[in-house]
Amino acid sequence: MSTTRMLTGDRPTGRLHLGHHVGSIANRVRLHRRYESFFIIADLHMLTTRNTREDIEQVSRNAREMVTDILAAGVEPDRATFYLQSAIPEVGDLNTLLQNLVTVPRLERVPSLKEMSRDAGKEEMPYGLLGYPVLQAADILCVKGQAVPVGKDNAAHVEVTREIARRFNHLYGEVFPVPELIMSETPTLIGTDGQGKMSKSRGNAIALADDPATVRRKVMGMYTDPNRVRADVPGTVEGNPVFAYHDVFNPDRAQVEELKARYRAGRVGDVEVKEALAGALNRFLDPIRERRARFEGQPGLVDELIFQGTERTRAEVHRTLVEVRRAMGLTSAYTQLRRRAERYRKAVATPA
Ligand code: TRP
Repeated sequence: MSTTRMLTGDRPTGRLHLGHHVGSIANRVRLHRRYESFFIIADLHMLTTRNTREDIEQVSRNAREMVTDILAAGVEPDRATFYLQSAIPEVGDLNTLLQNLVTVPRLERVPSLKEMSRDAGKEEMPYGLLGYPVLQAADILCVKGQAVPVGKDNAAHVEVTREIARRFNHLYGEVFPVPELIMSETPTLIGTDGQGKMSKSRGNAIALADDPATVRRKVMGMYTDPNRVRADVPGTVEGNPVFAYHDVFNPDRAQVEELKARYRAGRVGDVEVKEALAGALNRFLDPIRERRARFEGQPGLVDELIFQGTERTRAEVHRTLVEVRRAMGLTSAYTQLRRRAERYRKAVATPA
């Protein structure tokens, strides 16, 4: 029996931020030793909304930085396989085959796609973007992933994957495990502007790679209770991003409760609450910074990890595709043609 496999990953669009950490990185760090772990650098998924030459030119640097962030967060390099999606053409082959196991209306009901389309400034949905969850199913199924730790946005994609896996197994025989969704315990992290989820493109993110001064500056500029014009006005804690971050990142519960009580009573200034948060965030990020410095001190190491991981994954995906084509009968379709062609060739070579 092989061990259970875990697969997750990100599009290489920039550095990871606190929202990624809460949504999925924390689970990766917690779980990656328990499973055989694959981490995808999903550049084909990136192309569904960003496909200019400039976007693509940044893939290798973004991939390196992103993997460095994941390692810095605490994933051990010898316990994880990182790979570049576009370097494995058979992922696309599987995508083509899986496309027929899901309907357009089903995909149109996936809420994240409309959001991604809007965020990317598209007037109409690109065909590839509609197929985003199918490509993700191909990623998960091509390594026979069984556990998929993702944030809330991706939950519907994993659900589509489960449906596709069941449909495939029903039509062609048991090839794929039906993967389990592992959802983050923490709800989506709000951005520093309090206007929606944390997202680099919305400019409301604190990156895992931000230095202490940058973190402090971003925290001091954070959105709080807008009705609280002075420190002696009672404030609202619920839905206040500063306290949302305290809840997630400040391990000093007593301090957090005390600040909340004084905030509600109008007996603490925003500056004090924010100073405490900046301190907590920097203490949270310090060990991540230390590990990052170690990886950055060995230039080329992360590239080597991605390269070796991609080669390893490619071999794995190839095995799955052989099995898929066999299960579907595509292998025997071609074998029949080849045999008849061989007979024909023999017949014309040796006239009766
Ligand atoms: N959809 C993920 C994101 O939001 C990236 C991704 C692509 C992924 N393929 C995956 C995640 C497979 C988990 C499993 O960036």
